Amino acid sequence: MTRQKTALVTGGNRGIGFEICRQLAADNIKVILAARDLQKGDKAMAKLDNPLVSCIKLDVTNDADLQSLSSKLESRELVVDILVNNAGISQGIRYSILNEPRELTAQTMDINFFGALRLSQIVVPFMQKNHFGRVVNISSGHGSFSKMDKQNPGYRFSKVAMNAMTVMLADEVKNDNILVNAMTPGWVRTRLGGLNAHRNVEEGAETAVWLCLLDDDGPNGEFFKDKATFSW
Ligand SMILES: NC(=O)c1ccc[n+]([C@@H]2O[C@H](COP(=O)([O-])OP(=O)(O)OC[C@H]3O[C@@H](n4cnc5c(N)ncnc54)[C@H](OP(=O)(O)O)[C@@H]3O)[C@@H](O)[C@H]2O)c1
Repeated sequence: MTRQKTALVTGGNRGIGFEICRQLAADNIKVILAARDLQKGDKAMAKLDNPLVSCIKLDVTNDADLQSLSSKLESRELVVDILVNNAGISQGIRYSILNEPRELTAQTMDINFFGALRLSQIVVPFMQKNHFGRVVNISSGHGSFSKMDKQNPGYRFSKVAMNAMTVMLADEVKNDNILVNAMTPGWVRTRLGGLNAHRNVEEGAETAVWLCLLDDDGPNGEFFKDKATFSW
């Protein structure tokens, strides 16, 4: 019998991340709901009311939080088979490529890209040791060159970089039974997506959950929307 798998979902306390946690736990996956604010994480965990879900404090930009995760993996207090790099912000919608303040661009890159990169650098080596892993990067259509425009530059840079990271990491682990893919959820009604978005969180999470649960012969280093390949 195969071992029960554990997923770590960043930004799991609300929005698409929360829904990914809910769907994974409903699929009998153990879920570590990671939240930068532990109180919010605990509340979200209580809302899910599923014994398969636990919660940790993890701000993806916080050295101490990352170090603490690393130690827990080292001691095998935690095992992560599935990593969902979901935590993200979008705050430059009113700016264009010529005028977004540097601090804003940098902060967005720090959370959306460096957060995902640093977490992958911590978690993936343990996946390599276990010879199993799935990494799902929650990207965006705004990271696709085919959909590029001048608006919201920091957010777009961060998702383009995340897409490049997906391909690079997929190449790194291609012989390790680890599958690394990116997906765009489409425009989803969350705090980030706003009220006018076309999709609900269930729809937004569906492809990510499918990528989390891929069989060993699944795709590696690809970009998806609605379970179909999407143009980089
Ligand atoms: N909604 C859309 O239309 C849409 C479209 C394309 C892609 N996406 C992507 O989907 C992902 C989830 O977005 P969402 O729509 O669900 O947004 P959301 O409802 O605003 O949720 C964002 C989550 O990220 C967390 N977060 C922010 N900064 C963090 C940090 N430094 N460390 C850890 N967690 C942090 C937030 O925590 P707090 O609650 O503490 O703030 C929250 O849990 C993002 O990567 C986003 O780019 C969304």
